[in-house]
Amino acid sequence: MKFVTIEQWPASDRVDYRHELEAGNVLFFPVTPFVLPQEAQDFLRSLSFSGGAVHKNIAYRPASDRVTGIEADSAASERLVSVMRDYSRSLIRFTSELLPEYARAWKLDYASFRPLEEQGRDLPLNKRNDLIHTDAFPSRPTNGDLILRVFTNIHPSKTRNWVTTDPFPVIAEKYARAAGLEQIASGGKFLNQSARILKSFGLPVVPRSPYDRFMLRFHEYLKRNGDFQANCTKYHFDFPPGSTWLTFTDVLPHSVHSGQHALEQTFIIGRGSMADPGNAPVAVLERLCGRKLLEGGDLASQVA
Ligand SMILES: [Fe+2]
Repeated sequence: MKFVTIEQWPASDRVDYRHELEAGNVLFFPVTPFVLPQEAQDFLRSLSFSGGAVHKNIAYRPASDRVTGIEADSAASERLVSVMRDYSRSLIRFTSELLPEYARAWKLDYASFRPLEEQGRDLPLNKRNDLIHTDAFPSRPTNGDLILRVFTNIHPSKTRNWVTTDPFPVIAEKYARAAGLEQIASGGKFLNQSARILKSFGLPVVPRSPYDRFMLRFHEYLKRNGDFQANCTKYHFDFPPGSTWLTFTDVLPHSVHSGQHALEQTFIIGRGSMADPGNAPVAVLERLCGRKLLEGGDLASQVA
């Protein structure tokens, strides 16, 4: 994999960066390429010290213009909604200029602010960010579409330190079978028991394809595999303060070892807008197991 540096934005020549992203590379901007006022950054950094009202992760939902992760009646909550809204809009405008083909059909997911120092966090294994993994959202199956995430380090002095490994096709070839690909591919027509019960009570559930079940399984499989964690090829990159980077976090296995104060916006990219849909993880997995992975499936709880 590669870290592709883009020194100048807006660029004088139009480059189609979809190929780099779909190959599992990271696009890296040493200077934040969108408007992010200093006072907004100062405000976000100050939240970490304001005590119990702020949670470990602040999420902004563009569709409903709401923030979670802070007590709704706390003094900072109103300002936080406006800062996260402005950040999200500014970032979306930049990303749609960088990747117009994706922007035509993408779905906006959440934006987040990560106020905590990553180093030394005491988290259960499947939530640990320092173990290399591919992303999958339990409550928001992508049905074969891809997870694009744009990160910005707003710490005034500290780098945000990532370790990645080879992209999805390489890792899937080595580990997908051991992680249970065949079993999931052949069992897709049976509905998940707990989701059935939720649905029978009229609770909101969405279909979860065999692909989405596998990606959830693979996320945890990689984190639990001590041999993979210790011995896989590793690429280190320390993202400096004031830099921005983006990658498909389901194509590129990644981990974060230290760093504090990062902003992030997630997009779900339709396979139909890829430069080469044959590079989508679902296509890679279907070739490996010789079965379709987007048919059948079970139901995922939207309340998970
Ligand atoms: Fe991740």
